[in-house]
Amino acid sequence: MSNVNLAIIGQGGRGFGLMRLIMEMEDVNIVGVCDVYQDRVDRAVTTLKEAGKPAPVATQNYHELLALSNVDAVLIATSWQTHMRIAIDSMKAGKYVASEVGGACSLDEVWELVQTSRETKMPCMMLENCCYGREELALLNMVKQNVFGELIHTRCGYEHDLREEVAKGHINRHYRLDNYMHRNGDVYPTHGSVPMGKMLNINRGNRFVSLTSMASKSRGLNEWIKDNLPDVDYLQNYPFALGDVVTTIVKCAHGETLVMTHDTTLPRPYSRGGLVQGTKGIWMEENYSIYLDGISPEHKWEPFAPYLEKYEHPLWKWYQQEGIRGGHGGMDYLTLRAFLESVQAQCDTPIDVYDFAVHAALTPLSEQSVALGGMPQAFPDFTNGAWLVRPAERKWKYSLTEIWDGE
Ligand SMILES: NC(=O)c1ccc[n+]([C@@H]2O[C@H](COP(=O)([O-])OP(=O)(O)OC[C@H]3O[C@@H](n4cnc5c(N)ncnc54)[C@H](O)[C@@H]3O)[C@@H](O)[C@H]2O)c1
Repeated sequence: MSNVNLAIIGQGGRGFGLMRLIMEMEDVNIVGVCDVYQDRVDRAVTTLKEAGKPAPVATQNYHELLALSNVDAVLIATSWQTHMRIAIDSMKAGKYVASEVGGACSLDEVWELVQTSRETKMPCMMLENCCYGREELALLNMVKQNVFGELIHTRCGYEHDLREEVAKGHINRHYRLDNYMHRNGDVYPTHGSVPMGKMLNINRGNRFVSLTSMASKSRGLNEWIKDNLPDVDYLQNYPFALGDVVTTIVKCAHGETLVMTHDTTLPRPYSRGGLVQGTKGIWMEENYSIYLDGISPEHKWEPFAPYLEKYEHPLWKWYQQEGIRGGHGGMDYLTLRAFLESVQAQCDTPIDVYDFAVHAALTPLSEQSVALGGMPQAFPDFTNGAWLVRPAERKWKYSLTEIWDGE
């Protein structure tokens, strides 16, 4: 297959942004666009027309796009509570699926996602762009080269002051506010957990076994709303369900631990709070530093920058020569290309349905644990034992299980 015929469902900030990036790609035809809001559908159509592209099929009902026989693949950028349903329906319609990130709402829908992919044989990728970040890929390279020794402990997080985005959710027709009103757990784990999961070989020789989660009290949104939205009466003293800081500890089958933090309703600079620690050394995002046993000055952090260059992932070497483009420092473009080139090759995607399942499941398991005072929750094995023997993915430049330096 040379050109991919793509339908994009969800035309909010993210869906529209991704569409504009994809519009520039000569080997992709955007043949359908959808949103439940007509003005967002119209904006997508106008933008494509102004760029000289053929008019797409435009609709408020995504089923109409799934019924089109010329659609090869579907990109979903809707809300956390709709991704799974639309992904399942898309696979049943015989489409390749790429879905934006976010946790699931229940384990049942995660199982249905996996079963549907098995039955239809349609691949389903979570578009976890942080897997293709420059630092994340250099770290994966270092882990594969055993620079940190045997991995013991990792940390990650989503630490992003989103008070304004969340609080104005109903004003801006944004999905996040309803989740914060009614759910308590790590609702957005994947920016950290998927890259760390790749370093830990999750679903290919290792698996998440259990987790425990605790949530702090919730104050940040109320205080921000009092100061900034004094006229929105119903939110002034609203008892938000989501704790300001949710901390989760995940235990892996091979004994490693992963500590995850969700922290989005207090004032703070952005961080994904990364840490990778093994028997030979440690990397830490907060001060952009590293310590390697026998190499770094004793007991002293070293700057990470020289190591980033030394262990630059081959994909990023290529990308820097080609020219970095798109949002989030260039990683959005690489993630989209990994998906689209999988469709062209008719191969499975580098973040596959089992990755999607296990990382989306972090959220309902975290919610259950918080509700039960931190009680450990067992992880389902979505691979039904296949994680023990699943080989690395095929050798190609977007692989997240092997470092491929071929031509
Ligand atoms: N990977 C990243 O870096 C990144 C960045 C931003 C957002 N996101 C993810 O992208 C998704 C969308 O985020 P956003 O900020 O654009 O949210 P948004 O609320 O602004 O947009 C979502 C859009 O989906 C539409 N929608 C919802 N249900 C639908 C349905 N059944 N059919 C058609 N359209 C439907 C809504 O009307 C809305 O326009 C979220 O999952 C978010 O987590 C990822």
